[in-house]
Amino acid sequence: MEEKWWKNSVVYQIYPRSFCDSNRDGIGDINGIRSKLWYLKELGIDIIWLSPVYPSPNADNGYDISDYYGISPEFGTLEDMKKLIQECENNDIHIMMDLVLNHTSDEHPWFLEAKSATDNPYREYYIWRKGDIDHVPNDMTSCFGGSAWEYSQQTGEYYLHFFHKKQPDLNWENKNVRAEIWKMINYWIDLGVKGFRLDVIDMIGKVPDLKIKENGPKLHEYLQEMNKKTFGNKDIVTVGECWGADTEIGKLYSSPERKELNMIFQFEQMQSDQIEGGEKWDLKPLDFIYLKNTFAKWQKELAECGWNSLFWNNHDLPRIVSRWGNDKKYRVESAKMLATVLHGMKGTPYIYQGEEIGMTNYPFSNIEDFADVEAINMYYERKQKGYSQESIMKSLCAKARDNARTPMQWDNSHEAGFTEGKPWYHVNPNYTKINVEMALKDKNSIFYYYQKLIKLRKQNTILVYGTFELLCAENKHIFAYARQWNEKKWLIICNFYEELTTFEYSGKGKIILSNYEQQEIILLEQIKLRPYEAIICEVIV
Ligand code: GLC
Ligand code: CA
Repeated sequence: MEEKWWKNSVVYQIYPRSFCDSNRDGIGDINGIRSKLWYLKELGIDIIWLSPVYPSPNADNGYDISDYYGISPEFGTLEDMKKLIQECENNDIHIMMDLVLNHTSDEHPWFLEAKSATDNPYREYYIWRKGDIDHVPNDMTSCFGGSAWEYSQQTGEYYLHFFHKKQPDLNWENKNVRAEIWKMINYWIDLGVKGFRLDVIDMIGKVPDLKIKENGPKLHEYLQEMNKKTFGNKDIVTVGECWGADTEIGKLYSSPERKELNMIFQFEQMQSDQIEGGEKWDLKPLDFIYLKNTFAKWQKELAECGWNSLFWNNHDLPRIVSRWGNDKKYRVESAKMLATVLHGMKGTPYIYQGEEIGMTNYPFSNIEDFADVEAINMYYERKQKGYSQESIMKSLCAKARDNARTPMQWDNSHEAGFTEGKPWYHVNPNYTKINVEMALKDKNSIFYYYQKLIKLRKQNTILVYGTFELLCAENKHIFAYARQWNEKKWLIICNFYEELTTFEYSGKGKIILSNYEQQEIILLEQIKLRPYEAIICEVIV
């Protein structure tokens, strides 16, 4: 397998709006990020994935872009951005930009032109279908609820939007659209960014008349063209967001000889607590066996061709320590355990801001607490369908994206040190107990555990390139696997639950990292694992 710099890198995702506010307007910004580079350097990450910072009307917090070349004034200026890129490079940190290519904002100049007349040259940049006010082109739905078609008064036709109606879908069939996009990507490459995260990229090959949303027939053709015209022969890392990918599809994207992307975010294991065939709001208890098998399947299938991305969290997912850990009594132990499970595997790990200090879900109590259009739409849609208030709130508390979007908790001063003004969104009231300042003062903090995991990856080829083998697949409490590289074998042994449990293996293990105090050498014959105990050890004879 070819060695690449991004294979032993760790990525840190910043959601700029909620990271750090430098000018008291309550909105995180680029200069706020610049002021915290020392912190990211201390953590040891290599790449910052920056959620969108482009001008946007914010119907979907920046994922509705009105100018691909600029910086939103609320985040700063292009000069600030250039400084950020330069200062990051000085610290050996690369910037990964978020590319939202499936749709633009309805306030993007292309769309303003397109909607003005059926014969406008920009009309074909988007997807229009005939219909009248009572006849929608078809029954496709938006990911945020309701129809995927919006009637446009000016020309009496419908346009397609797989997300908010303020996010019209681009028509990738149109070669001018593609040319515009290549030009824009190259502009950012010239500015010095070293990576791209491609938002809902599996939707660009859509065929609305056949109701094909994801994985359309021309998807991979487009990606190969993109690769050739933009980042292909440059030393740039790419990751595509692909909700609809299984392992076969995953290989198509990430096999190097196909020249598409380096890796994808696939979400199969993130559906381990969702009723099959249902929506993300349809909760079920975590199916732990499914979770392990799904991770193992991806590890195995992409072992020889392609590459995995490893993540528990992002700005669309609830906080992992609240989701599958224990955010009360065992917050610290379980956060470290979850980190061990993930960072022990083969692939490029992603950390979402605040994960490294064990930030938790927000204690929502009513619909007014939410800011996200997805949550608000779901609430009213389910109300109308007759769901009880209790069941709706339960789903929202568990899964709402706002859980991840509360401001970063820096210290226990005013608004968690995120802003000196009034934050755009609620700070989690637990900031007095969970914050960066406290984490940095405590040598046993989750922060320092992440720091160690990152360092381990840098110093040990086995973690980057070693093979993966799932152990005790049927065990209902333990997530364990072996990594092997030449003669070396490491075991990653994690108790995923609070109950005590026993792990058995033959031989001895030399402790490399654990979230509990350990003897230097342990007998593997019978390890009694304590609540959420996690061990990385080298097998010795
Ligand atoms: C992706 C983003 C999400 C956004 C959607 C539409 O899933 O991660 O935040 O709402 O695409 O752009
Ligand atoms: Ca600000």
